[in-house]
Amino acid sequence: MGNLLWWHTGVIYQVYPRSFMDSDGDGVGDLNGVRQRLDYLQDLGVTGIWLSPVNPSPMVDFGYDISDYRAIHPLFGTMKDFDRLLKEVHRRGMKLITDLVPNHTSEAHPWFLESRSSRANPKRDWYLWYDPAPGGGPPNNWLSAFGGSGWEWDEATGQYYFHSYLKEQPDLNWRNPAVQEEMHDIMRFWLDRGVDGFRVDVMWHLIKDERLRDNPPNPDYKPGMSPYFRYRPNYSVDQPEVHGIVAAMRKILDGYPERVLIGEIYLPVKSLVSYYGRNNDEAHLPFNFQLITLPWDAASIGAAVDQYEGALPEGAWPNWVLGNHDRSRIASRVGIRQAKIAALLLLTLRGTPTLYYGDELGMTDVVIPPSKVQDPHEKNIPGLGLGRDPERTPMLWNAEKNAGFTTGTPWLPVGRTYRRINAGVQATDDTSMLCFYKRLIRLRNAQPALHSGSFRRLDTEGTALVYVRRQGNARWLIALNLGTRRTTVRLADPALRATVVLGTHSDAEGKQLTHRFRLRGSEGMVARLH
Ligand code: NOJ
Ligand code: MG
Repeated sequence: MGNLLWWHTGVIYQVYPRSFMDSDGDGVGDLNGVRQRLDYLQDLGVTGIWLSPVNPSPMVDFGYDISDYRAIHPLFGTMKDFDRLLKEVHRRGMKLITDLVPNHTSEAHPWFLESRSSRANPKRDWYLWYDPAPGGGPPNNWLSAFGGSGWEWDEATGQYYFHSYLKEQPDLNWRNPAVQEEMHDIMRFWLDRGVDGFRVDVMWHLIKDERLRDNPPNPDYKPGMSPYFRYRPNYSVDQPEVHGIVAAMRKILDGYPERVLIGEIYLPVKSLVSYYGRNNDEAHLPFNFQLITLPWDAASIGAAVDQYEGALPEGAWPNWVLGNHDRSRIASRVGIRQAKIAALLLLTLRGTPTLYYGDELGMTDVVIPPSKVQDPHEKNIPGLGLGRDPERTPMLWNAEKNAGFTTGTPWLPVGRTYRRINAGVQATDDTSMLCFYKRLIRLRNAQPALHSGSFRRLDTEGTALVYVRRQGNARWLIALNLGTRRTTVRLADPALRATVVLGTHSDAEGKQLTHRFRLRGSEGMVARLH
């Protein structure tokens, strides 16, 4: 690959703005709060900041229900604050990626208000309105990901509308060219302001089967799973026509230099990589969530890495994601010791890494008492552990009240361990997760082999995952023990010699490795090959 851009080589960091930093004491994070913490992010070494939505919204789905795509919600600040943040990000040589939510709007969006006002309204066809099934009831069996039918009856106009998520989030009709044109215009609005790219919400949902065929039952559905998985969404997601839509979005970005198009897509690898486009003319980075969804063991992850590397189309750039605002935090999923292994994986596998705010501190999910639940997913489908509040709690800045996040009452409880686990304390402790992340990101940023070199996995037995990154003469060996017990790494090349440069166990640093060496439980290392 010639000509690598910032989003190929850099690290992306997701800020969930409600929970990052509150500058005005209302208990909810805001744009000026993010701006106040840019030094921290710069020092961490990340390149791109992805901001979850900050547009006006009734906040039924905490900003993923937008009522005005061209403005800023007063809770987060003003357009001036946004421009100032963007300027400050750029002044630091960093980039800002915003969230684009094109699949659905808020029910409070003026487009939807018009659309539902009458069947004759010119905006009627901007959403998915259908007559009841011939025998009555919803047009088909499609479900909402947040519980219940995906169809909502509108008494006044005698039709149903479709919503992939909450009934307060009606899906737009992407078959309508006017919808496409409007969304393209919104993209240009933000690109003209200077944003460096978009993370497109639920990209694989954008268009649905025109004939509204029923989804088939899912034979793998088991009680305890979200009821959404009772059916296989064969006709309500990942339709062939989605690729034209994404390609048209990409064309808009290609009119500007160095902008990135990222797609949120939960699909098996084979379908996922189709979102790069046949000629790399769709998403630059279809988010790869395998480190979130796979069982945490060397065999599963090793096989998945090989499969992913093998499936990537010619010229496509890989990427890996460790966490986000919808999934349990890595330190809770795999434990705090394996969370360091996860950091090593994320930052040394081939491709752009995306990390979630607070994971660099080893933040864990916070138990939310029933009276404090905010997430509509939890409220609609209680008891299955589907709620996303635990991973959305305030960033832990220091040992002061509310971990320094707010002077008011935080919108979600602050994790109880904040006096020990916070950015301030960890910055002064060489053995902390934060210092580990910083050193790792620095090493990655400084070594072309690590951020853009080739990748080759080495055969090993046991619980270790071992691979080599190479660029020209520079070669790095990464050895990770995904198990909690000691393991021996035996590699094929007897001439192998390497020096450990960075390790989860700092006493290993400086050690010489040969083709046979031991890893302690949850030990990982990055070594320079000679
Ligand atoms: C995906 C977002 O990440 C999630 O937070 C949201 O609830 C749904 N899309 C619906 O917009
Ligand atoms: Mg605030």
